[in-house]
Amino acid sequence: MKMDTFDVGEYRKFLFTYDVSKILKEIPDDNDPIWDSNTIRQSAEYWGFHNTRSIIFKWCSDPKFDLTKESIDILPFIESFNQDTQLWKSISPFCDKLAQHFNGIVVRAFIANIPPGSSTTPHEDIGCILVPFVHRNHVALETREGVDFLIKDKHFKFEIGDVYEIDNMSIHDAINNGKFRRLHLIVDVLPQDFKSSIIDNKDFLTVKFSKNKISRYKRNSVNGRIEKLGTWEFRNKN
Ligand SMILES: [Fe+2]
Repeated sequence: MKMDTFDVGEYRKFLFTYDVSKILKEIPDDNDPIWDSNTIRQSAEYWGFHNTRSIIFKWCSDPKFDLTKESIDILPFIESFNQDTQLWKSISPFCDKLAQHFNGIVVRAFIANIPPGSSTTPHEDIGCILVPFVHRNHVALETREGVDFLIKDKHFKFEIGDVYEIDNMSIHDAINNGKFRRLHLIVDVLPQDFKSSIIDNKDFLTVKFSKNKISRYKRNSVNGRIEKLGTWEFRNKN
């Protein structure tokens, strides 16, 4: 979630409706080995995706070095997968549209598949240094009765083709109690100017999110997670 995107108590923002019919034509059935070709998301220890499957097109791993302005200068390192598929060809214009919408670059793009009777573990996406800078967007591709998406204590329904940005730094989980798989296309966009909001500091990552607001983050040396130390707001004198 890009900090400062949401008002207090707001966890999801409608962006636009997208015609996903070309994407739907290319989606493989559950027997296709492409669903198991890259398990980086399922195997991430603290995210709770063990019961899900995914097709990954772009992935930006969390850099494990210290959080300084120098180190962030070499970000982002984005790996690409399944780029020669018709499926990616159908998805890539959607990614371009989102990149344009936020004036940024796509750092992650994947289809998340929650099989019937499965769910994610409630979690916050705070394990990666980029999370406070990134816009996380969801569009439902296949969803039916029995599917629920919770952010904090609020329930959200996703209609096919409606594109939303979500607050993934608040606790959230997806539940599929229906009879069919649930597919969401998830795209992360990092704004081009994200580096300009970082204030140089040896001990913390300090980010200026607006004229009057800064936040500080530090990596927890025990579990490696990025922890927010606080947000400070400054009032104008006059
Ligand atoms: Fe998440």
